[in-house]
Amino acid sequence: MSRSATGGGAYDVGVLVAGNWKMYKGPSETAAFLDAFDPPLGVDVVVCPPYVSLAVAVGRGVSVYAQNVHWSTEGAFTGEVSAEMLLELGVDGAIVGHSERRQHFGETDETVARRAEAALAAGLGVIACVGETGEERETGRTEAVLRRQLSVLPRHERLVIAYEPVWAIGTGRTATPEMAQDAHALITSIHPTRVLYGGSVKPDNAVELMAQPAVGGALVGGASLDPESFRAICAAALV
Ligand code: PGA
Repeated sequence: MSRSATGGGAYDVGVLVAGNWKMYKGPSETAAFLDAFDPPLGVDVVVCPPYVSLAVAVGRGVSVYAQNVHWSTEGAFTGEVSAEMLLELGVDGAIVGHSERRQHFGETDETVARRAEAALAAGLGVIACVGETGEERETGRTEAVLRRQLSVLPRHERLVIAYEPVWAIGTGRTATPEMAQDAHALITSIHPTRVLYGGSVKPDNAVELMAQPAVGGALVGGASLDPESFRAICAAALV
């Protein structure tokens, strides 16, 4: 498979597969996963454990991203963590704007942009998530939603985008490869960077999704929790 899928440029440095562990795996389960996990060569692999497990994951041969990051260096923001704190731990980056943050925790396009900008300014990598709900797709608003979500995101060589149709997350209903390709092509025409696909990526659909020319990798939830399954998805990126 061509890994110059996204058409060249500073971001075009190979395929990236990230595992978003959500609120799964405390420190001991994180250590056990990484003991068992053998990432294939040639793929940039990222794991995104909960905050309390980040320190255990650092220095174990894979990149480590947090699942969120605040825009201030410090302050009266109960429950939040800053980019500087993540850097002190040795963390490489952070997800911002995951749909579960948008749905359940009041995240808006503006707060996502602030988080992304602060993380990039501090030196972290960023995976910024965008994607339409099922209702938005059914009513023909996918393009408008993606344009709105992308319009606030900074251009930066350390920012990659994850296209995660909300209706495909954790549902077992994945976008068809053609749907993913169309959305990714739209996204790269607006915001030229690497675009990961996310939403029910599994070992048995990862090859055809990542074979699409505009798909530059995957953001994997449930199937990243098991070392064998996550390894199979990482290996699928090389087919
Ligand atoms: P899923 O989650 O692979 O379990 O659908 C993807 C995500 O939320 O990033």
